[in-house]
Amino acid sequence: TDQYAVIGHPISHSKSPKIHQAFAKQTGQSLEYRAIDIYPDDVAGQIQQLHNALKLKGLNVTVPFKETLWSLIDDLSERADRAGAVNTIVISESGNLFGDNTDGVGLSRDLLSNHGLTIKDKRILLLGAGGASRGVIAPLLQEAPTDLFIANRTAEKATNLANDFQDLGAISGGGWSDIKGKFDIVINATAASLQGEVPPISAACLADEAACYDMMYGDRDTAFVTWAKAHNAAHALDGLGMLVEQAAEAFFLWRGIRPESQPVIAMLRQ
Ligand code: ATR
Repeated sequence: TDQYAVIGHPISHSKSPKIHQAFAKQTGQSLEYRAIDIYPDDVAGQIQQLHNALKLKGLNVTVPFKETLWSLIDDLSERADRAGAVNTIVISESGNLFGDNTDGVGLSRDLLSNHGLTIKDKRILLLGAGGASRGVIAPLLQEAPTDLFIANRTAEKATNLANDFQDLGAISGGGWSDIKGKFDIVINATAASLQGEVPPISAACLADEAACYDMMYGDRDTAFVTWAKAHNAAHALDGLGMLVEQAAEAFFLWRGIRPESQPVIAMLRQ
């Protein structure tokens, strides 16, 4: 049986095994997928050991190793290179690693396919300028929004990040107080949710039919989803669909078959 795993630290709460096992069942693919806790030093050595022991065909990578693997792997897809992070690895028979990143396409598919939103000719506000933001910018710009504004607590990080993507579309950045006008899609990619906090933005930035999207998810509404509902945003969405869509894209890379994500999202919602 082909072997796959997700590596991270900590990893016990990962939903990835459940998701990939559901995809395998749905598509009739024979594979095993497990979660493995690895330690922050000698990541390359640990992957080599895992590969030797399990003959892994692929890996998913989660916190805190996505950037580490970006710097360790020479053979990267263009989207992983742009994202500055790797969340999916394809391993050849000989043990060569190919690094990809499916997070960004996971977000855009969730917005477009699962939630029926449009990005083309819409204004996007992206909150946060860390790794999570960097990973989704290129796929969002690819859908041709009118513009994308990155707002961050540390304004300089947002302007620097925007500068890295100038070639792909209308993108700029600044601090919270630089948010001007109304936005159709507001995406929270800050780590504020982890502390139950919401970035200090005004609801005046929400267009009439605005969608608020938190890249985080939880059993209860996240702080940003709660904020969006309190301010009557037309859509208040969490990141569970993005999680399943990034997994579906990884599954496709490994198996050449695209699983259906909706039933798996529904299963996880229960
Ligand atoms: P990640 O990979 O999750 O993006 P990161 O690279 O550490 O993690 O980035 C965290 C992001 O969340 C940053 O944009 C950070 O703002 P700063 O650049 O000003 O540090 C943002 N962030 C973290 N805690 C926050 C909070 N309580 N309120 C607002 N923004 C916060």
